[in-house]
Amino acid sequence: MSNVLVVIGATGNQGRAVLTYFQQYEPSYKLRGTSRNPSSDAAIALAKSGIEIVKADLNDLDSLKHAFKDATVIFAYTAGSEILQSSNLIPKVMSGELKPPVGQYAYEIEVQQGKNVADAAATIPTLHRLVWSSLTDVRGRSGGKYVQAYHLDSKYTVWQYMRDLPALKDKASAVLMGGFMDNLANTPQQWGISRQTNGDFLVSLPLQKDCPIPWVDVERDTGAFVHALTKASPGTHVLGVSEWLGTGKYLELLFDHLGVKGRFEDISFEAAVQNDPLGLKLQFAEGFRFAEEFGYTGGDPEVVSPDDLEKQGFSIPRSKIIHHIKRTDWSKFLGTKSAA
Ligand SMILES: NC(=O)c1ccc[n+]([C@@H]2O[C@H](COP(=O)([O-])OP(=O)(O)OC[C@H]3O[C@@H](n4cnc5c(N)ncnc54)[C@H](OP(=O)(O)O)[C@@H]3O)[C@@H](O)[C@H]2O)c1
Repeated sequence: MSNVLVVIGATGNQGRAVLTYFQQYEPSYKLRGTSRNPSSDAAIALAKSGIEIVKADLNDLDSLKHAFKDATVIFAYTAGSEILQSSNLIPKVMSGELKPPVGQYAYEIEVQQGKNVADAAATIPTLHRLVWSSLTDVRGRSGGKYVQAYHLDSKYTVWQYMRDLPALKDKASAVLMGGFMDNLANTPQQWGISRQTNGDFLVSLPLQKDCPIPWVDVERDTGAFVHALTKASPGTHVLGVSEWLGTGKYLELLFDHLGVKGRFEDISFEAAVQNDPLGLKLQFAEGFRFAEEFGYTGGDPEVVSPDDLEKQGFSIPRSKIIHHIKRTDWSKFLGTKSAA
């Protein structure tokens, strides 16, 4: 029987990366990707490259069962920001119909989407491995100190559900994704970037500049993590890290490459959560403070490093931050306007 890989969110960063990796390194696999809109330009481009595209929505269990038919490997993830955009939650909180923080409602939707993946995967007799894109158990690992990092806890809650589902006991593994190297280039407004009146860049986050962050080159390396998880024992939870570095040093590399001046400022928690009617700033600030106090994975003993998997004989080639910086289009970042 030939291997069939089904990837949820084929047009997204993680999904496309996994499909591209398998296209290159596992040519015998039959590749299928899902999209809510198979007639979008992005989905059509994937179909033209030989990937079967099927329509599926994470909110629709039957569409997932249909997409997973005959799958031997499934890679799945949720898109937290998409939930906020498409769910009408933000207007409801802004109008007072729902109480902030908005993340608590997005959490419920995201967890249900992940459970749908698990429940659909559990019905597929051909399945060998389900790989989930997880994140950290912030609430649990902080002993209840940080309870509003909803975008992190949601992915961990799903992982717990998958791991404990009897039908997936010997089939589910997870990759705990590090901080995306694309963040500053793609969505600079979300990452505390501003220009000072002299044009210098200022990056203000509630995070110590030396706090080690596991950065991941999503485009180049996600496929290698998922591929290793198809071979490693089920139940493996690997950290998706390409290279560890403090944000201060990361920015030094970036500013040097761009030939601009800039600095990183570790702002207080209170400053970071000012003017926050949706509670979203608090959600992200808790994630940063958690990483500082407890480490990115919260010291979760279940999470292994890619080096641990390599020691078991699974090859995981990883990219360097500097190479990602050099190949990236930084025009959005450079276009950040001055405050005055
Ligand atoms: N930024 C970071 O540092 C970081 C770190 C770790 C983890 N994460 C997590 O990574 C996730 C985002 O990953 P990404 O950047 O790869 O996503 P992305 O590029 O935004 O793509 C998400 C894909 O999912 C599909 N999708 C969205 N809603 C769907 C639904 N209801 N049903 C089925 N498919 C759906 C979309 O495809 P169609 O529109 O074609 O359906 C889209 O292509 C977030 O949850 C975030 O929390 C981020």
